[in-house]
Amino acid sequence: MARPIDALLAAMTLEEKIGQLTMTEGSGHGVARDVQTAIRQGGLGSLLNVHHAPTVRELQRLAVEETRLGIPLVFGLDVLHGHRTIFPIPLAEAAAFDPALWEKTAAAAAAEATRDGIMLTFAPMLDLARDPRWGRIAESPGEDPLLGSRFAAAKVRGFQGHALSDPMRLAATAKHIGAYGAVTAGREYASSDISERSLLELHLPAFKAAAEAGVAAVMAAFTDIAGVPAHANVALLRDRLRQGWGFDGVVVSDYGAIAELVPHGVAADIAEAAALALNAGVDIDMMGGAYRRGLPAALARGLVGAEAVDAAVMRVLRLKEQLGLFDDPYRGLSRSAPADDGLVRGLAREAARRSIVLLSNDGVLPLPPTLRRVAVVGPLAAANRPMLGPWAALGDATPATTIADGLRRALPSCAIDVAMGTPIDGADTSGIADACRIAEAADIIVLCLGEDDTMSGEAGSRARPELPGAQRTLAEVMLDLGKPVVALLTSGRPLIVPWLVERASAVLATWFLGHEAGHAIADVLTGAANPSGRLPVSWPRDVGQVPIFYAERPTGRPAEAANRFTSKYLDLPATPQFPFGHGLSYSRFVLSGLRISADEIRSGDDVEVAVEVANDGPAAGQATILLFIHDPVACVARPRLELKDFTRVGLMPGERESVRFRLASETFMFPGRDLSPVLETGEIEILVGTSAAPDGLLRTSLRVIADREAEPRRGAIPEPRTESGPGR
Ligand code: GLC
Repeated sequence: MARPIDALLAAMTLEEKIGQLTMTEGSGHGVARDVQTAIRQGGLGSLLNVHHAPTVRELQRLAVEETRLGIPLVFGLDVLHGHRTIFPIPLAEAAAFDPALWEKTAAAAAAEATRDGIMLTFAPMLDLARDPRWGRIAESPGEDPLLGSRFAAAKVRGFQGHALSDPMRLAATAKHIGAYGAVTAGREYASSDISERSLLELHLPAFKAAAEAGVAAVMAAFTDIAGVPAHANVALLRDRLRQGWGFDGVVVSDYGAIAELVPHGVAADIAEAAALALNAGVDIDMMGGAYRRGLPAALARGLVGAEAVDAAVMRVLRLKEQLGLFDDPYRGLSRSAPADDGLVRGLAREAARRSIVLLSNDGVLPLPPTLRRVAVVGPLAAANRPMLGPWAALGDATPATTIADGLRRALPSCAIDVAMGTPIDGADTSGIADACRIAEAADIIVLCLGEDDTMSGEAGSRARPELPGAQRTLAEVMLDLGKPVVALLTSGRPLIVPWLVERASAVLATWFLGHEAGHAIADVLTGAANPSGRLPVSWPRDVGQVPIFYAERPTGRPAEAANRFTSKYLDLPATPQFPFGHGLSYSRFVLSGLRISADEIRSGDDVEVAVEVANDGPAAGQATILLFIHDPVACVARPRLELKDFTRVGLMPGERESVRFRLASETFMFPGRDLSPVLETGEIEILVGTSAAPDGLLRTSLRVIADREAEPRRGAIPEPRTESGPGR
């Protein structure tokens, strides 16, 4: 039975079809007159950045009542980590290692955004990031494909819920496929020249997880993968995303990215650019006008077929049908704003607490309640807007709790003196004298350092990811006073501060924590909350180490201090300042008794790994337990460690618990030499710990028995490949 959208498609003119494939921008409270005209003419299918409910309602009315076919519009916005209530940036939230939390904050953001008429969020951002020079590391779930995959699935569940027709839920967009995080030298929009293997093993798993979770849309990356831009990448979008993974949702371009295929050097004109993108499977042209300007000519020149246009339009209409827009085009707008019950702010505070990573602590934390006077020094001490981070949607900075505010509320009987010392950036050190004055009178100095919210996020690459401006000068003056110094790093990335780690009493990664930053930081500093965040990225000692990550492939010459001719630097250790998974707490977690339910596993079997976790510390806390594997001999060299599961366990002081992981045989599969999944016979190490630091891992092993040797026996001469090109 023909569905209404089949009939709609059949009735549409080419201009109306191209209109459905075109997304243009409003400006919050309105759109230009020509956009209103385009809507009336059926020349637009969706809008981004229009989020004023009355404006959304009026534009939707135009589309539904004043056009020939009355097709409703989709309204999209970058709701990455909150809408009006801002949660921690994704890189921070990833530190919680908690899918339930990730889902909750996405659902809360969706409930707020839909009340403003938003139906589609351009989130979650799922680009694996291992380079702190790249500003968008702030938006990413970090360096690990498994962490990114769990983050992806949780965010899709949270944004979309069980049905896109739920007026409190958003269609989610997994972005930006693929390998955007591998830009050359961490420079924004540069080429990602990586191997097919890295693409498959590192950069695609999170997107596959999003597709498996039913994500409604996918956004292509601005960048190219080894010379083929994502927006023209048939192998990536048509073959892998759609045919390989069965994704039948909408692919939306990034902002103007289809037209950018011309400067990318793969299209001679806008018609070729439009044809390349549509043939690759990009359905919606965001803000480039490429489809409007290029598709008619592309069709006339035979560069693209009418059936490709129809297929794209059908996917857009189906999304609108799934969103329930043909039944209620005003969707979330009809709901009244709920009473402010503080629940969302409470969730924001909990998420912020859980995102803080205690990097070092000489015992100065938690702060004693007997403190008499605290000097809160630094450019982030009383800052509110930066706390919201680089993608703050409609978050209003005013109600963001500053660090100083948070400490005042948490330490009511303590004098809290505040001095900026230096601005976030620039050479002005005139405020350091005032900072010294208050610091000399204080029992302890809380040093609030870091970045402005514009120094990360899109177009936020920094070649030197250190403290900007004169902040190091300020910090060293404070450190020279000889008082306890607790350093807080507000940033969108790991910052290179070995000299601060060396000298401060404690250092915390507080990222950009959102509206509840000040309260959450004070909760952790005073011990009201026991820090539980764990690093989702390796923390470099120096930018010269970058990219640095835990899952490195082995080398034929592993580092040996006494042997020059081994893999290391002459001038720096090759290890990170802090490894992936690092994070201290006020508890003391001890792992022991690692055991495995079988010493061998065959294809189709499961095996259970168990470990005892005890809290030998004075405070109740949450331990995050990571399970890695290492395959020491395989047809393709495997990373020294691969994260395969993680979990959290809450323990009271003195309490101990068995933590269990169930591993299916698929856990031990990997892309073989031809990149197809293989399971090989051989010993596999199982390693469990609280971070990727090798000396903290408990080890056991098991033998994998593969049904058949998928790969030629190692050492055998493989048969010549039939296809052209080098064997893999
Ligand atoms: C930007 C970003 C993308 C965002 C889009 C709409 O350029 O690359 O992540 O969703 O444009 O704002």
